[in-house]
Amino acid sequence: MGPIGFLLLCLCVPVLPVQFCTTTGSWTVCQGELMAFPEDIPTSVTNLNVSNNRLSSLEQNTLIKFVNIKKLNISRNLITNIHNKAFFRLTDLELLDLSFNNLIEISDKIIFNNVKLKWFSIAHNKNLKYIPHLQSKSLQRFNVSSCGIQEMNETTFQEVESIEILDLSFNEIKEIRDHTFDALTMLCELDVSNNELQSAQFINSDCSLSLTYLDISSNNISVLDWITFQTLLSLKKIHFHNNPWRCDERMKYVYENMLNNETTLNLQCVSASDNKKISWHEWYHSVNKVSSCPVNFVTDSPTTCSTSIINKCPKVSCSCDSSWVVFYVIAAIICLLNIVFMIVIFRKNTSSRNNSQ
Ligand SMILES: *[C@@H]1O[C@H](CO)[C@@H](O)[C@H](O)[C@H]1NC(C)=O
Ligand SMILES: *[C@@H]1O[C@H](CO)[C@@H](O)[C@H](O)[C@H]1NC(C)=O
Ligand SMILES: *[C@@H]1O[C@H](CO)[C@@H](O)[C@H](O)[C@H]1NC(C)=O
Ligand SMILES: *[C@@H]1O[C@H](CO)[C@@H](O)[C@H](O)[C@H]1NC(C)=O
Ligand SMILES: *[C@@H]1O[C@H](CO)[C@@H](O)[C@H](O)[C@H]1NC(C)=O
Ligand SMILES: *[C@@H]1O[C@H](CO)[C@@H](O)[C@H](O)[C@H]1NC(C)=O
Repeated sequence: MGPIGFLLLCLCVPVLPVQFCTTTGSWTVCQGELMAFPEDIPTSVTNLNVSNNRLSSLEQNTLIKFVNIKKLNISRNLITNIHNKAFFRLTDLELLDLSFNNLIEISDKIIFNNVKLKWFSIAHNKNLKYIPHLQSKSLQRFNVSSCGIQEMNETTFQEVESIEILDLSFNEIKEIRDHTFDALTMLCELDVSNNELQSAQFINSDCSLSLTYLDISSNNISVLDWITFQTLLSLKKIHFHNNPWRCDERMKYVYENMLNNETTLNLQCVSASDNKKISWHEWYHSVNKVSSCPVNFVTDSPTTCSTSIINKCPKVSCSCDSSWVVFYVIAAIICLLNIVFMIVIFRKNTSSRNNSQ
């Protein structure tokens, strides 16, 4: 091929724009070590995945065009800063994944305008060190795992009342003050494992908890007070392991009511008399005063039981398992249709009988 042929070839091959984003199904995925949002994202995009790139910040206008976004995954980038109005126009947003970035700051107002946001993760932003005081009426799942959190207080979760699942694991929390979770009346799952807590007293903060799942494993808690657990009426699963449990009188009720269970027979506690580790099971059977109080009763003394304090608590509902509601509604509609159908048939029958008479 001579030089003229080469020139002709060059003219014939159009200059293709580089494409970073591909759309498969409902997701548009952008990849290529991107340091800025690429130009070829369709503005109609509903599910956008720009995870695993090298984005370092989100400005006020970065996302402004994408008003239809429902799910946005910006996980695994190098984001340190996000403008407090970066997501302001995304009023349909339901899921936002900011995990595995390098956030050092995040505005309390960050999801203020995202009235449909249900799922929000800032997990694995190790230098964040604090939890933003979010304001949301829709948020159900909030993940703050591995963010170097040391403290929070009763104002932290005051305006995110709809949270059902909260993950605070793998932080450096030493203390959770009473009333911290008081506003979270829908809370179903709480994970505070792998922190430095010395007490689980925070569960007792009010009568408001509807927890079904609690993880307090891998902390520095030595005593669990059964009175504390009185309020956890809905509790179905609890993880205790890897705490320096003491063989303490107060633990008896915990053992009786929660731990008469194969998995927990392996748990050990440190005996007060000789500092030796023994199994909870062994220890329990060596303590002769056995309480006969059933679950949900307060034990005034080892031998008398008074009715539960639970009755004083406001009734809370837990909707983690809301799929059943749909089922019941459908069943009710079918029942109703059946009844209507039967009435119609009955009427028809009687009227045709009347006619034939
Ligand atoms: C976001 O993308 C990452 C992969 O880069 C994935 O691990 C993560 O599950 C995604 N988040 C959601 C909520 O789908
Ligand atoms: C997002 O993209 C990453 C690749 O960058 C992929 O591993 C992940 O599965 C995608 N997630 C979703 C929910 O599309
Ligand atoms: C929170 O995020 C971490 C990291 O992505 C994940 O391993 C964990 O399962 C998440 N927690 C919840 C409750 O979804
Ligand atoms: C709670 O913490 C915030 C900062 O995170 C602080 O401004 C506020 O004063 C604290 N409130 C109480 C009652 O300590
Ligand atoms: C665990 O708690 C004890 C007090 O009960 C304290 O002396 C010790 O320093 C704590 N350990 C850690 C690792 O925080
Ligand atoms: C007892 O163990 C079973 C599984 O062996 C578990 O399903 C149940 O939740 C446990 N009960 C409590 C109170 O932890």
